[in-house]
Amino acid sequence: MISKSILDQTWRLKWYQTLDSTNSEASRSLNNDPDQPVWFAAKEQTSGRGRSGRTWVSMEGNLFASLRLPVSAAPSELSVLALVVGLAVRDALVTMSHGMLSPRLKWPNDVRIDGQKISGILLEYVRSGDQGVVIIGIGMNLIHSPENLDYPVTSLHSLTGGMPVPPEQALHVLSDALKKRMIQIADNGRAAIITDWLEVHDHSGSIISTRINDEVIQGDFAGLSEEGFLLVKDQNGCTRTVSAGDVELIREVT
Ligand code: BTN
Repeated sequence: MISKSILDQTWRLKWYQTLDSTNSEASRSLNNDPDQPVWFAAKEQTSGRGRSGRTWVSMEGNLFASLRLPVSAAPSELSVLALVVGLAVRDALVTMSHGMLSPRLKWPNDVRIDGQKISGILLEYVRSGDQGVVIIGIGMNLIHSPENLDYPVTSLHSLTGGMPVPPEQALHVLSDALKKRMIQIADNGRAAIITDWLEVHDHSGSIISTRINDEVIQGDFAGLSEEGFLLVKDQNGCTRTVSAGDVELIREVT
């Protein structure tokens, strides 16, 4: 899925003061060396994008970064990447909090602490034949917890106190963590990632409510499939597989 040569390289990094969205900038940059992984990071975003068309509130002090990564995989194989990234963000938060925090993961990749979201991940995919480019967009609440959202949020600084972690340092830690998790999947396959993800999931004791096309599925968490899809045991006792919403195909390049 991700070639070893990419994992051996130093990933380039471009910092901006202000961007509309680091994911959008990564997508616009595709005419330029698409075979090279590049991080796009901004101090603030004016049109930060979340999953399902939501806005990602992006005030200076938090981290906003997107990795543009060439991949050779069918979109269905990319689902597990959502889990890889969630685990890497979790690893980075554990490192930055010196082990004080133990974030949990809500499928496909919300990173939460005590039910409060601290990081969001937006994976987008641009396909070109058998090749493609994944844009891994990560927002991390380092010092701000945006208000008036319809879900609870928190930030690294509000939980740990002390000196705030600057976004540049957070990205350095995150990039290392992501590379380590990508090496793990390249070496050991997706079963190892799924095992690790299941150890830190945040679905115990809560009812899952999700959509498959127009149907609303409600039920209990029943694990993950070997592809990394969510399994939900519905009210009739049937196990349903949910794959939608993990990696979004945004463009086809011919
Ligand atoms: C979510 O809804 O949970 C995903 C939020 C993803 C936000 C990040 S911030 C960096 C990158 N650029 C964007 O516009 N969105 C992602």
